[in-house]
Amino acid sequence: MPNHLLQLEGLSDERLTQLLDAAAAYLPAARGQGQVPAALAGRLVAQMFFEDSTRTRLSFEAAAARLGARSMSLQGAGSSASKGETFLDTALNVDALGVDAMVVRTSISGGPALLARHVRCAVINAGDGRREHPTQGLLDCLTIREAFGRFNGIHVGIVGDIANSRVARSAIHALTTLGASVHLIGPPTLLPGCFAGVARRAESVHITHDLDAILDRLDVIMMLRVQLERSAGGGIAADYREHYGLTHQRAQRLPSHCIVMHPGPVNRGVEVDDDVADDVRRSQILRQVTHGVAVRMAVLQESMPR
Ligand code: NCD
Repeated sequence: MPNHLLQLEGLSDERLTQLLDAAAAYLPAARGQGQVPAALAGRLVAQMFFEDSTRTRLSFEAAAARLGARSMSLQGAGSSASKGETFLDTALNVDALGVDAMVVRTSISGGPALLARHVRCAVINAGDGRREHPTQGLLDCLTIREAFGRFNGIHVGIVGDIANSRVARSAIHALTTLGASVHLIGPPTLLPGCFAGVARRAESVHITHDLDAILDRLDVIMMLRVQLERSAGGGIAADYREHYGLTHQRAQRLPSHCIVMHPGPVNRGVEVDDDVADDVRRSQILRQVTHGVAVRMAVLQESMPR
C-alpha cells in the first residue's frame, strides 16, 4: 500500500516527530556528506509541477536521486494540460506509466487528495493552492528543532501574506501540534481573524497586526512572500515594508537568539532586507533548503514501502 502525504493537518505529535526523526537521520546525506543505501533503487517518481517551483522541485529530485530512485518531470507548460486535458486525466495517465509515486504541485486546493482517491501510486503534495505544503511545514519544523532542540515554549512569528499562504497553514498545524506557540502577524487584508481557529490547538495561535509590538518575544521569525499571483489584482502596498518588512532596524530589536526563516523565493527589500537575509548568524534560509532535501528523502522513502 502506498503512503500518501497530503497534509499536516490532523497528523499527531508522534507521527510528526517520527517524520522529523527520519528526516534528521538523512541530514548528512542531504548535505552531500556520506552515502545512504539506495533504498529506492529501481523506483520511478513522477515530479508533476503545474505551478512554478525552484526549491521544492529540485529538492524532491535531489531526494529521489540520493535514494537511488529515478525521476521523470512534467511541468504544466508543455504538457497536455495546455490542450485541455484535466488534472485528473493527466494524473491517471502518469499512474498508468507505472510510476511508484507522484509528487504534485497544483493551484487546485485539495488536488493531491483528489488524485490519491483515484491513482494506485503514492501521492505527495508539493503545495496545493492556498491549502497546504506539508514537506515545507516539515522542513520548517526540522529547522526549528535543529536550532532549539524542542518546540515547547518556542514562540514562532509568521509574518505577512498569511491568507494566501499554504506554507503558513502547514506550519500552523505542525508547530502547534508539536507544542510551539504561533503568532500570526500581518495586515488585516492578508490576515483574517478566522485564522486563529485553523489549528486544532487554537489556544496556541495568536493574531496581531502589530509586528513592532511583538518582535522582542520571538524565538523564530518566519517571513512569507507576498503572493501576488493569488491576490485579486493589486500589487504590494507601498508601505508594506514599513509595517511588515524585516528591516535592518527591526532585526536589531529581535532577541539575539532569534532565527530568521523564509520559504523562498525572497523578495529582497520587501519582506526581508538584504543584510538580514544574508546574516549567517541568524538567517536559516539556505539551511531550510538543505533540510528540505532530508525531509523529502524521508517522505519519499516511506511513501513507497517494499
Ligand atoms: C512557497 C510555495 O510555493 O508555496 N515556496 C516554496 O515552496 N518554498 C512559498 C512561496 O512561493 O512564496
